[in-house]
Amino acid sequence: MPQSLPSQIAPGQPLTALAPMQDVTDLAFMRVVATYGAPDYFFTEFFRVHAQSRPERHILRSIDENDTGRPVFAQLIGEDIPHMVRTAEALAAHPIAGIDVNLGCPAPKVYKKNVGGGLLRDPGKISAILSALRAAVPGLLTVKMRIGFEDAGNFARILDIVNENRVDLLAVHGRTVREMYRSDVHYDRIAEAAGRARCPVLANGNVTSAARAVEIVRDTGARGVMVGRHAIRNPWIFGQCRERFAGLPRSRVSLADVREYVQRLYLATRDPAVPERAHVNKMKKYLNFVGQGVDPRGEFLHDMRRAESEAELFETCDRHLLRGEGEFASEPYPGVIARPNCETPEESDGCSLETVTA
Ligand SMILES: Cc1cc2nc3c(=O)[nH]c(=O)nc-3n(C[C@H](O)[C@H](O)[C@H](O)COP(=O)(O)O)c2cc1C
Repeated sequence: MPQSLPSQIAPGQPLTALAPMQDVTDLAFMRVVATYGAPDYFFTEFFRVHAQSRPERHILRSIDENDTGRPVFAQLIGEDIPHMVRTAEALAAHPIAGIDVNLGCPAPKVYKKNVGGGLLRDPGKISAILSALRAAVPGLLTVKMRIGFEDAGNFARILDIVNENRVDLLAVHGRTVREMYRSDVHYDRIAEAAGRARCPVLANGNVTSAARAVEIVRDTGARGVMVGRHAIRNPWIFGQCRERFAGLPRSRVSLADVREYVQRLYLATRDPAVPERAHVNKMKKYLNFVGQGVDPRGEFLHDMRRAESEAELFETCDRHLLRGEGEFASEPYPGVIARPNCETPEESDGCSLETVTA
């Protein structure tokens, strides 16, 4: 395991990272993103840690078979300290850049077990977890957190705990657990973290475009950005960030380029064991985000959601993406919501594509 943060693609620029996303940031998705311009760092989906847990095999693939050329941090979610240590030690035998601790998942089923975002109510427990992991992990230890549970009352204390445990990198999603995914992002709190934390801080939450990344880094003093949903919509975003950080215009993306992305994603994520209809349904979950940049009235989204087969899905893509010389919007169109229904229902066991909107 590396002992210092791996070198970045464009030295001297702000860092970029693909946010961990359950059901999304698997090996296939990381490879697809890397073809359009990799981030500096990848993070796995979370490994669930409890007494009977073993690192999930499909998540291990995103580490063991990572051929993107970029380092991947392994994220843990849990609260049982001996088992977190055991899992971190097991993962250290794989080619990871470091161990990342999830202090943010807002799904009720998760926080009710006092893991993920639930831990933000208990700084003492966070301290115990981080100090045990710091002692056990023979390399980098990173944290991804929200700014609090109900409010940011514990935020400064947790930042001090991050410092006391010599955490190497901190990603801050600038919302509370209660704020889920759609409130405004509290960039002032990310700025507070950038000022208080001794390690580099990545700003996370609604980094919608390369232009916004430049503004958010400037306004928060963060060392870089972590991008989640907007990299599903626009996998070119990391390369575009590097262009904008260098003061260059960002490359344009045409709707025809998006058609090619959809095809690539379809093939990369296809599993022969999964029936076509189920795979089409999974694709629709990614396309919910992609559709935010296709047309201002959400017509692509409307039609795409009705596709029931591979042929219907691609016929819809052809109709909307291969007409004329259309350009893919760099920002999501206002009012085009990735999913109009509720966010994370009680029964959801994590952050899933089913439930998270943008
Ligand atoms: C589908 C989905 C799954 C997610 N899974 C995780 C996860 O496994 N671990 C984690 O720390 N955050 C997870 N998140 C939160 C994201 O990493 C990120 O903090 C959040 O989406 C805000 O960033 P964004 O506005 O760039 O999407 C997930 C988000 C989404 C949309």
